Amino acid sequence: MPTIKKLGILTGGGDAPGLNAVIRAVVKTATNAGVTVIGLEDSFDGLIYPEKSRVLTPADVTGILRLGGTILGTVNRGDPFVEPIVTPHGTFNYAERVMQMFGEMKLDALVCIGGDGTLAISYEFYKRGIPLVGVPKTIDNDIVGTTSCFGFDTAVSFATDAIDRLHTTAEAHRRIIVVEVMGRYAGWIALHAGTAGGADVILIPEIPYDLEKVTECLRERDQRGARFSIVVVAEGSKPKGGELSILEQAHDGYAERLGGAAKFCGDELAKLTGKETRHVVLGHLQRGGVPTAFDRTLATRFGGKAVELVLAGQFGKMVANHPPDLVPIPLGEVVGRTKTVPLDYDLLQTARMMGVSFGD
Ligand code: F6P
Repeated sequence: MPTIKKLGILTGGGDAPGLNAVIRAVVKTATNAGVTVIGLEDSFDGLIYPEKSRVLTPADVTGILRLGGTILGTVNRGDPFVEPIVTPHGTFNYAERVMQMFGEMKLDALVCIGGDGTLAISYEFYKRGIPLVGVPKTIDNDIVGTTSCFGFDTAVSFATDAIDRLHTTAEAHRRIIVVEVMGRYAGWIALHAGTAGGADVILIPEIPYDLEKVTECLRERDQRGARFSIVVVAEGSKPKGGELSILEQAHDGYAERLGGAAKFCGDELAKLTGKETRHVVLGHLQRGGVPTAFDRTLATRFGGKAVELVLAGQFGKMVANHPPDLVPIPLGEVVGRTKTVPLDYDLLQTARMMGVSFGD
């Protein structure tokens, strides 16, 4: 077992409700085990800029359990290994600088909390010799090897509440309302919020949709006297044979930005049905605010397990939720892959059996 005296912690990628709960759990459990925790700001930038790190004590994390965002800050910069990094302290090769600073700061290990991008970067540093443990974070729920990530439940709860609100106004005006939710290339948020909110149509990336089929479903509803409809569309959905809706193309190691699926879908459905149609994009509202009790609990468990793995010297692993347990899985099995919704998932099947259209 390694002797761990000083542990660095960082949060990377898009934020998710529950990040602060993980930080709090790591700081409290590690401190109680006699380990000093160093908070690294803005992801791996905390290992680039000497001024971007600070000691975190239990007093520093008091009261953050219920806060969204992250007290350490985060960046979603894309691939940091591509270009040299220019700082007031000089121009550095990113990877070399991180390795050098890890040594100079006398850190013994890192806890890296992030989604697919941050976990992939962390894995690179692990292979270069930094002992670290990953904690999966994303509202998208698309990280392989873990049944759930904190942030997802909060995002789904928010989206469900929004769908509930849209129901009443859609019904009052007898409109079609198309709601766009996040999730990148996975339909977890759309499927869960769509079914929890009683949507009539749910469009997910895993099932390219046919607008004629969606129109058929909406017409049938009208014929049955419903005269309004709620369509939930995942940002990563696309029509059969069509393209993804993109806000910004990928560039310089940055991933492409998705967006516009609801507008596209709403405009087309208005033409095809002749009905008044509106679209709403929930966007970053899904990432903000107070984490649900479920997310706080999962995040706390992840934090505690991460410290347990660090103390046991189980590096190069990610904490994964395998109910009822948390287990370590090798980062190498996680990175570069996406957990999409299986087409035989029982929730999807049940929604179909209940008459929800997936546009196929
Ligand atoms: O991965 C989380 C996520 O919120 C996605 O659902 C979304 O596509 C993306 O991040 C948005 O990223 P940004 O905050 O960079 O706009």
